[in-house]
Amino acid sequence: MTTLGTPLSPRATKVMLLGSGELGKEVLIALQRLGVETIAVDRYENAPGQQVAHHARTIAMSDPEQLKALIEAERPDLVVPEIEAIATPMLEALEAAGTVRVIPTARAARLTMDREGIRRLAAETLGLPTSPYRFCDSLQELRDAIDGGIGYPCVVKPVMSSSGKGQSKLDGPQDVERAWEYAMAGGRVSHGRVIVEGFIDFDYEITLLTVRARGADGGIETHFCEPIGHLQQAGDYVESWQPHPMHPAALQKAREIARAVTGDLGGQGLFGVELFVKGEQVWFSEVSPRPHDTGMVTMITQWQSEFELHARAILGLPVDTALKSPGASAVIYGGVEGEGVVFDGVDEALRVPRTDLRLFGKPESFTKRRMGVALAYDGDVETARANAREAAGKVLPRLPG
Ligand SMILES: Nc1ncnc2c1ncn2[C@@H]1O[C@H](COP(=O)(O)OP(=O)(O)OP(=O)(O)O)[C@@H](O)[C@H]1O
Ligand SMILES: [Mg+2]
Repeated sequence: MTTLGTPLSPRATKVMLLGSGELGKEVLIALQRLGVETIAVDRYENAPGQQVAHHARTIAMSDPEQLKALIEAERPDLVVPEIEAIATPMLEALEAAGTVRVIPTARAARLTMDREGIRRLAAETLGLPTSPYRFCDSLQELRDAIDGGIGYPCVVKPVMSSSGKGQSKLDGPQDVERAWEYAMAGGRVSHGRVIVEGFIDFDYEITLLTVRARGADGGIETHFCEPIGHLQQAGDYVESWQPHPMHPAALQKAREIARAVTGDLGGQGLFGVELFVKGEQVWFSEVSPRPHDTGMVTMITQWQSEFELHARAILGLPVDTALKSPGASAVIYGGVEGEGVVFDGVDEALRVPRTDLRLFGKPESFTKRRMGVALAYDGDVETARANAREAAGKVLPRLPG
């Protein structure tokens, strides 16, 4: 049985989000609606999630001592990592000591924190189909890996990076040095390790949102959302839509892969399983043990968005992954650099039929920073995509004054 408390009372159910960007903000809102007391942590002040939580804390989450001190001071019932750059070995130690429960598990947070842990688990331990890959620590090792079997085209990525940072596609030997330099500059922690992957010539790629939640008998059940299709530019998502049609055999394989990888990571919560599909063939790419950026579309397409599903699953509540309507999302980028931007055209955007909008409230804009998202639902995905794109294009961030 799940019992929830009253926020700001001695019996409050307390949840701490590590990372309070746009995805964390929506998880926090979902938790608030269930009367959970929320603590939003980020590395900078006034992060989107901090604006909607009971408490806001600003620390370097990659610093194990700062992380430990905060968790011991706040004593949350659950710690929910929302980003990858966290001192996960410290989370494992605190979980092992019984200080706190980490979502979905501290081990899952550690394994998915860099590309190596999760890739080795998926390909080598679980035997799931992935692109061919090698890990390299120098330009020479990279050359040897490509010449020794990976071949061209291939993709080079820092082991620690997200949103396509430091990532490039190589078409021939002339591209290797540039790709190495770019990865060294774009990695989150400059320890100079990259993965090189054979390029998969897929027909399309999907995110399969997968939820591990408690059933009525107390056991963990695995639920799947409808597949989400998405478009990536320079390794960053610009549009997503749901449902993405799939050959039944491919859908079955996708679910088997998702069940295997989330089953091994364990715990409770929602996962974003990224897969490449060509005909009936399916490759595992990577997995987030938390809501996925391409899954923002579910705020308009599902009865329970990926954020509500995550909130429910981590609290031990039942979930419903049913689709409400086909729909789409389109990203709104900052386009300008500066603090306190204003958004023109919000009314025009919302006049596009069957659309909605999220503006994340980020204190500072960068040209390529995601500042908001347009959402659209419709009878078919194509119409929704066109409307989401149109609405997103009408929102114009600019510097004030
Ligand atoms: N081996 C590959 N073959 C073909 N395309 C690839 C390959 N690896 C990555 N891509 C393309 O690049 C995109 C980003 O790659 P990946 O998901 O590994 O990076 P990421 O930085 O973690 O991105 P994000 O954080 O946005 O998920 C993929 O969604 C896919 O479109
Ligand atoms: Mg990805």
